This record gives sequence, C-alpha cells and structure tokens, in this order.
Amino acid sequence: MEKTTVLGKNRTGIDMSPIDAKEMMALAKITPSSSTGDEQAIAEMRSQYIREAEVIGSIPPPGTLKGMASTAMEKLTGKNPEVFIDKLGCRLAFERAGVRLYDALITKCAASSNGSIVPIERLREFRNEELEHFKLVERAIRSIGADPTAQTPSADVDGMASIGLVQVLTDPRTSVAHCLEAILIAELADNDAWQLLIMLTEKMGMDDMARDFQNALREEDEHLAHIRQWFKQMVMEDAAVVT
Ligand SMILES: [Fe+2]
Ligand SMILES: [Fe+2]
Repeated sequence: MEKTTVLGKNRTGIDMSPIDAKEMMALAKITPSSSTGDEQAIAEMRSQYIREAEVIGSIPPPGTLKGMASTAMEKLTGKNPEVFIDKLGCRLAFERAGVRLYDALITKCAASSNGSIVPIERLREFRNEELEHFKLVERAIRSIGADPTAQTPSADVDGMASIGLVQVLTDPRTSVAHCLEAILIAELADNDAWQLLIMLTEKMGMDDMARDFQNALREEDEHLAHIRQWFKQMVMEDAAVVT
C-alpha cells in the first residue's frame, strides 16, 4: 500500500531555523502586545453578547393539528413535543448530510491508489442506509404532524459543527485515512445521537417509532465498527506496524 504520510519540506516548526528561533523568542519578550486585553476581557465581551443574543432558532408549530394522528397527539399531551421535534429534525439533517459524506468518501476511495482496504461496495451500502434512515425520520416527523422541511435549531447547530468534516472529505489533498477519521467522528456522534433519540422516543410513548429507530441504530453500530477498524488498519499499515 502506498504511504499516505510522507516526509517532506514542512517549514512550520521552529526547529527549521534554530538561530532565527532564538532571535524571535528574545524579541517576543520585549515587544509589547499589539492590543490590550487578555482572555478575561474576551470572556467578558462574549458574556455580554450571550446575554443580549436571541435564541438560534425556533420550532414551527405543527402545520395542522388535525394532521397529527390523534393517537400521537394523545401521547404528546402534557409533554414538550418541541424538544422531540427539534431532535427529530436534527437526526433528519444529519442522516442527509451522512449520505453526502459517504458520497465524498466513495469518490475519494475510487480515485485514490491507497484506498484498497476499504471495500467501496460496503461504503455504498452504508450510504444507502443513511438515506433510508433519513426517509425513516422524515416519516416519523410527518406522523406527528410536524414539517420535515423546517430546519430546527439543533439541526442548524449540528450542521455548523459538521462543516469541518465536509471540508476534510472534499479536500482533494486529504488521504483516505484522513477521510476515514472524519467519517469516524460523524459516526461516533451519529451513534450517540440515535441512542438519545431512541430514549426520548420511548419516553414520549412512541413505542413503534422507537422500534424502527432501534433497527437504524443496529445499522449505525455496523457503520461505526467498520469505519473504526478500517481507519485503525490504515494507520497501522502506514506506520509499518502490525495490529
Ligand atoms: Fe446515520
Ligand atoms: Fe452511519
């Protein structure tokens, strides 16, 4: 297998020029800061913004309460369905993003000479399962009379947190191992989020929905186990050590 981590002209470290390093450190001691203030001032300013900020988003009320199945409405009465809808919306967005992450990983593996240990057919299965999970959550949202096209606050925040993963997956210079690490982060978060959603669904009294979500979690367990194994194997092979 071709190595993905190579020795080269990396000039970012201080050891590249010991003489300049000494001079730089001496100058740093006598040069005043370019601006006043410290981390305490940063914290104070952030606190002020936090106090003045509005919420990041809201949950739209169900389009039509008549649209909500009466059994669902009965179960949700007296609870806070907006929390449930927020987390369902979050799962919906993440599964859709998961499809795109796997699309990018499949392209990376197909185009790389060092992706041979990752079976692309298996990645396609995982990609399609993410799509099925997306559809499953969409049906769940509709079944309680909510709108699956609305971006919920948690979906918004999750999307923001995942931006770096998308960038790693779509950067032409990253290796298959880099991309597996990014997908591993996504799958770890995905796995935990499904567990929380299942717990919430059960507490909401939606037993059939929780059962469907359990099936999705079983597939997610498979994704996580395989991605973790392939990533580990690639790093070990790259380091020329045996697991
Ligand atoms: Fe997923
Ligand atoms: Fe997954």
